[in-house]
Amino acid sequence: MKNENGLKLVDKDEDGVDRAFREDVLAGLRQRQKAIPARWLYDDAGSQLFEDITDLEEYYPTRAETEILEARGEEFAELIGADRAVVEFGSGSSVKTPLLLRAIDPAAYVPLDISGDFLRASASALAKKFPDIEVHPVEADFMREVRLPDEVSSLKKLGFFPGSTIGNMVPRTAVDLLRSMRVTLGAENGETPLLLIGMDLVKDRQVLEAAYDDARGVTAEFNRNLARRINRELGGDIPVDDLRHQARWNDEFARIEMHLEAIRDIAFTVAGCGFSMQQGETIHTENSHKFTRRSANTLLSAGGWTPRARWTDSEDRFSLILAEATEKRDAP
Ligand code: AVJ
Repeated sequence: MKNENGLKLVDKDEDGVDRAFREDVLAGLRQRQKAIPARWLYDDAGSQLFEDITDLEEYYPTRAETEILEARGEEFAELIGADRAVVEFGSGSSVKTPLLLRAIDPAAYVPLDISGDFLRASASALAKKFPDIEVHPVEADFMREVRLPDEVSSLKKLGFFPGSTIGNMVPRTAVDLLRSMRVTLGAENGETPLLLIGMDLVKDRQVLEAAYDDARGVTAEFNRNLARRINRELGGDIPVDDLRHQARWNDEFARIEMHLEAIRDIAFTVAGCGFSMQQGETIHTENSHKFTRRSANTLLSAGGWTPRARWTDSEDRFSLILAEATEKRDAP
């Protein structure tokens, strides 16, 4: 079934297997450096584990970004103005979105998410909390251009993309997304949309590695859940206990990488296909890029956005950047 955005929401085969998941996993396991796209980490169990991660002592990004949203409401209001439509890329978190909505008093809130269940749950919670804001959820893959509801067509837009989720993409994909956000938000219809985007900052390597390898092992479970999901949904027999969670700082690309490392030589099958890993070999499961002020500006510029304001938390760990869609004539 396709929705009005032309999106085939989930494409399942006759056995109820998500085809895209199977193709990504099989292709990823055939690579010399095994790698699986990070989006598959977020099934129900994975999403719950990520929620648990945000409460961990070591995982500072959620607290740091929330601190900025709590402290800077007046400045947001002044720079953004009231009566916009806030378009959130991903359904609203229970904490961050209300802080923004309360600060800027928008006319409408449009959460975009590929998961209809999450979307409806967070949309109805927000609608109850903010009776004066029209809520128009859209089930869509925001990596592509999304057609927004007609009800918000006459409103100025503010895109909201918190959490440093942009950091989970390699620069090429991040730039593709930033450019499609411009179009989604109306930059090509003579509007000048704004974007409020969270970007985590480069910092001490020990702090970063601890944030992605916590003492209680919650992040390790989040990572290993991917192997469990493969076993469950794709009929695999990966020996999950022989995979060790690894969080490593890749200094060349300024990113934390999550890997699953084989602690001994192993062999397994997934969807009827055989694979093996030597001791020490890894499956790369996630990148989390960290930014400097300059690298953030460069990425945003490459994606067609001009940074206008920037805030960090009291410990300079995380940044929120307000950017404006760049007009073509700005370029010299
Ligand atoms: C989804 C971007 C908020 O990269 O920090 C947390 C995901 N992975 N711990 C991040 C994640 C491991 C997270 N974000």
